[in-house]
Amino acid sequence: MNRRRFLRVLGGGTIAAASLPLAGCSGSMPEEAIAGWHSPEATGDVRRWILAHAILAPHSHNLQSWVVDLRAPGEIALYCDLNRLLPETDPFGRQIMMSHGTFLEILDLAARERGLRADVTLFPEGEFTMDRIDARPVARVRLAADSTAAPDPLFAQIFHRHTNRSLYAPERTVPDAARAAMQAAAGPGVDFGCTAPADGEALRAHRAIAQDAWRIELTTPRTMLESYKVLRIGATEIAKHRDGLSLTDPTVVWLTRLGLFDRSKAPGPNDRAVTSQIDDFREKLASTPAFLWMTTADNQRRTQIAAGRAYVRVQLAATAHGIAMQPLQQALQEYPEQAGPHAAIRKTLGVTTPPRTVQMWARLGYAPPVGPAPRRDLDAFVRA
Ligand SMILES: Cc1cc2nc3c(=O)[nH]c(=O)nc-3n(C[C@H](O)[C@H](O)[C@H](O)COP(=O)(O)O)c2cc1C
Repeated sequence: MNRRRFLRVLGGGTIAAASLPLAGCSGSMPEEAIAGWHSPEATGDVRRWILAHAILAPHSHNLQSWVVDLRAPGEIALYCDLNRLLPETDPFGRQIMMSHGTFLEILDLAARERGLRADVTLFPEGEFTMDRIDARPVARVRLAADSTAAPDPLFAQIFHRHTNRSLYAPERTVPDAARAAMQAAAGPGVDFGCTAPADGEALRAHRAIAQDAWRIELTTPRTMLESYKVLRIGATEIAKHRDGLSLTDPTVVWLTRLGLFDRSKAPGPNDRAVTSQIDDFREKLASTPAFLWMTTADNQRRTQIAAGRAYVRVQLAATAHGIAMQPLQQALQEYPEQAGPHAAIRKTLGVTTPPRTVQMWARLGYAPPVGPAPRRDLDAFVRA
């Protein structure tokens, strides 16, 4: 840890989670927490092999809210774990649904790799209402042998895809070929956009909105506390939970052990721990050479799933081109304090007419590679 940040952490007395060095950025990760990132053996029930890939999908706050029922032969029923929601920052469960979309997309890529077609029926017992996710299935997947089920080259990137929250190389622009590959990966039904390399005005607007949204998230006590609840600090907590936001920085671990990081209280808005992290994030935004966004014509539950599928495909395509990505969901979140940034990003992107929805907004650029985030064992996802 550099001296500046060390002093900052000590000076704060309490720590704000969102821009601390989340795992994948520094420190070491307990081996068992990332054991899922090795290729599974292709023996036994093919559904387990497929699911061993699907659980590597990105999920908001790494909550891994997937539950699968394998009791019907040749089928996978997908449910949402209602104990793994983010009611403060994601009050209508839009990002949770996107995170089920990412899962279904990786499942589909893995099935194709084994010569299987995954026939996905979304919401077989009816679509969730727009305000709440319930106990009905998200999807029923039937696997069928299909000699025309072509493997997808994006499959090869599943084990290399990681959310990268580092500083990016500011002068290194994203080449046209990579943009085109990402756009193609998004597929139909989800509109992909990206800032142009020399468009300084657009870059300034994106940075300012993201910065404002970040400040709001850090200074809204209930949204901060929601992140604190899923913060896993140090090897013991990470190995125990294998989900959530991991912190491995030795100083933070040490401060936590000494009882100097109280996760039951949100920091005050002028707390140095908050203001210095706002500054850190400003640096990260300033280093970002491009921003991408994905919009949809409506915001139905099945559209949210489609947006998640498209998002992970775009991230896999970026990974194939060596490009790093970090979602910036704060301004897209539907809690009242974000109304200003939410309106500002819609206006900046020209998304002015509801129900058109901005589903994803992300930093894009080049950065040193980061390691994987934890995943629970496959058995933890299977409903008995
Ligand atoms: C719908 C969705 C929203 C996300 N929003 C954010 C975000 O705002 N900021 C962030 O740093 N990561 C965000 N992520 C990335 C997750 O935190 C990440 O997928 C998770 O921690 C697991 O890490 P991995 O992607 O490296 O496997 C989001 C992911 C999804 C699918």
